[in-house]
Amino acid sequence: VTNTNINTTAHLSSHTMKTEGVPAVPFSGKKQSLIEDARRDRSSTSSISPEPSRFGDNFVFEEKQGRVSLNILFTLNNQKNAGFFKTGKIFETFEVKLLHIESRPGRKQKNSGSDLEFLIKCEVHSSDLEVFLNSLKKVADDVCTIPEEKVPWFPKRIKDLDQCNFLMTKFDPEMDSNHPGYSDSEYRKRRAYISELAFGYKQGDPLPYVEYTEDEVSTWREIYLKLRSIYPSLACRQFLEGLQQLETECGYSEERIPQLRDISAFLKEKTGFQLRPVAGLLSARDFLASLAFRVFQCTQYIRHSSAPMHSPEPDCCHELLGHIPMLADKEFAQFSQEIGLASLGASEEEIEKLSTLYWFTVEFGLCKQNGTVKAYGAGLLSSYGELIYALSNEPKYKPFNPEETAVQSYQDQTYQPIYYVSESLEDAKIKIRRYAANIKRPFAVCYDPFTCRVEVLDQPSKIKTALSQMREDLKTLQHALEKLSV
Ligand SMILES: [Fe+2]
Repeated sequence: VTNTNINTTAHLSSHTMKTEGVPAVPFSGKKQSLIEDARRDRSSTSSISPEPSRFGDNFVFEEKQGRVSLNILFTLNNQKNAGFFKTGKIFETFEVKLLHIESRPGRKQKNSGSDLEFLIKCEVHSSDLEVFLNSLKKVADDVCTIPEEKVPWFPKRIKDLDQCNFLMTKFDPEMDSNHPGYSDSEYRKRRAYISELAFGYKQGDPLPYVEYTEDEVSTWREIYLKLRSIYPSLACRQFLEGLQQLETECGYSEERIPQLRDISAFLKEKTGFQLRPVAGLLSARDFLASLAFRVFQCTQYIRHSSAPMHSPEPDCCHELLGHIPMLADKEFAQFSQEIGLASLGASEEEIEKLSTLYWFTVEFGLCKQNGTVKAYGAGLLSSYGELIYALSNEPKYKPFNPEETAVQSYQDQTYQPIYYVSESLEDAKIKIRRYAANIKRPFAVCYDPFTCRVEVLDQPSKIKTALSQMREDLKTLQHALEKLSV
């Protein structure tokens, strides 16, 4: 799918609020009950600051109907043995709703090792938050609120990709008045019919077969022949090798539009990638997530015959000519999966950066080969005009650097203002991996090809299992090396 970029605005701040702190309310109570202290604190807070910063410098989440949920960590020590009951009273006073409680031996060991540390997840009236926490600080030590990352849902099993089908419709012929098929009701009907096949698809179903019309094949033929003539001098080695294999093993030719079913079987054998039909331009998050499973979401309809050299939306010419030959290359397949894995559970902001990276690599990437610059991006390899332009002296080149590339503005209406050149595909892969490692996520993931599942490595036992698998793999390599050296 060509255009994975969408204008995703970061919504992070609505999940984790961290605002400027409010001065703590001085504790002046003497011989008063804790509850009275708390009540007085509550009234004195409102008198000090009629409009206090609502959440102080605490981490709170999901404000609902005036209540916020938060995670509090605190320690109760020997000297404050009754602290547990006192904290209970505070919770009672502020009508705190308890959601989860855990305790463990204190880690600081400063008071004979009998401290207890508590983690409490609870809900409290947002207007009471500051006073509630100040009250807790009087009976417990090391009171702090701890942030909890809100991780967006992501697929864990390949079957979950049935839910990764959020379409961006702005380039649809129904929605985009500049689409060449906008005023052609026959075309729109045909596109809708093919899209319907994708809507009904479930993971594991046989891929839909489309009987293309003479008109459609003729559009394909024109594009195929024109692009085929310039590939040898402009496309990278991996692309040319992939295309050649597709021609000899998978029926690629100007005579017919290849079927997704045949291509998927071909790719599965070469690199473990498989295809899944998609009804149009997919959201960046869903598209990238499918790459984590080595699944490529692929449109099946073809562009309008009046504009064979241009399509505002991804179509089968873009997918089959631009993407598929590259996905037959092992190194590139790994590269694509790395981007996909990095996207799982990432924030909106990170998804936007990753999709921009994807844009300037998988879609519009250039790389050096034997001293010359070649194209490996599918957006280029499926566009006669832009492929020639990108490899002319006109555009600006920059060396591929993920941190910089991820925030570069891009162009989805005309040619790119800038192209990023990698030293090699391997170099791009290493850099992407390094970039992905720095994405802020509270867990790491790895893919299990046997079960087609993404494992979330958030517990030592899971890491141990992954490690023992790796040891077995290393042993196999060691044996292989030993045999070679005999
Ligand atoms: Fe694409």
